[in-house]
Amino acid sequence: MQHRSASSEAPIGIFDSGLGGLTVAAAIAAALPDEHLFYLGDTARVPYGTRSPATVVRYARKNVAFLASHGVKAVVVACNTVSAHALGGLTDGGTLPTLGVIRPGARAALAASRGGPIAVLGTPGTVRSDAYLNAIHEVAPRRTVYQIACPLFVPLVEEGWERHPVTLQVAREYLAPLAGSGVDTLILGCTHYPLLRGVLEEVAAEIVGEHVAIVDSATAVAAEVLELLDRAGLRRAAGPARHRFFVTDAPERVGEVGSRFWGGPALSLEHVDLFDEGGA
Ligand code: DGL
Repeated sequence: MQHRSASSEAPIGIFDSGLGGLTVAAAIAAALPDEHLFYLGDTARVPYGTRSPATVVRYARKNVAFLASHGVKAVVVACNTVSAHALGGLTDGGTLPTLGVIRPGARAALAASRGGPIAVLGTPGTVRSDAYLNAIHEVAPRRTVYQIACPLFVPLVEEGWERHPVTLQVAREYLAPLAGSGVDTLILGCTHYPLLRGVLEEVAAEIVGEHVAIVDSATAVAAEVLELLDRAGLRRAAGPARHRFFVTDAPERVGEVGSRFWGGPALSLEHVDLFDEGGA
């Protein structure tokens, strides 16, 4: 009993390759306002989306070990690329409940779709892994799925160019293959893309020729975290929540970008060096 209440008080651990995962953290904070959050953004090694699966797994395991060492009660992998490559093997055989963004996102897309083809936008790593395709086909094996790698979106969002003409042009290039596809739902399969929701909704409708539902996994993940904590009896009793935000590089430089993802005032970011014992 003692142990159970101590665990309920523990924070929810959340990590991403950088600060984009704060879109997921914000959705969790909105759905579970009493929970403490403990966030890690690996800003020293972002982006993960263009790296090999082996490298992504190595980085992700470090991130999880850091969160575990701070006694988190669950881990949310708020990074599509890590969720795509590594979800199974991150906790060293431990029992820490771990949840990724792919399955909730795929299910949310199937719920939003009117039965037509679904398109997934993601990093090159996420697209190459076929993780969204497989998650959709687990539930709807015959559904047509288009996957498009959009590597330029991450730097454009980090630059704050969400509504810039260049971003609009890049979006038109990436989405051009969807002309005539009849796609009715688009998954924002990367933590950064929720900030492009408006642009992508416009461009998708223009190219496909009708309204396209835009789905990001953040809200769906928050709902699954709630379920997971309920199931495990780990929901924290009501009370003011305290959040901590860690980055692995340059907290003074990335606070403004972080606050755009978090959707609030400039964040106070703490620094941690995960590879200081040698050999990144
Ligand atoms: N967080 C990554 C993702 O959701 C995007 C940024 C990166 O490439 O590391 O896939």
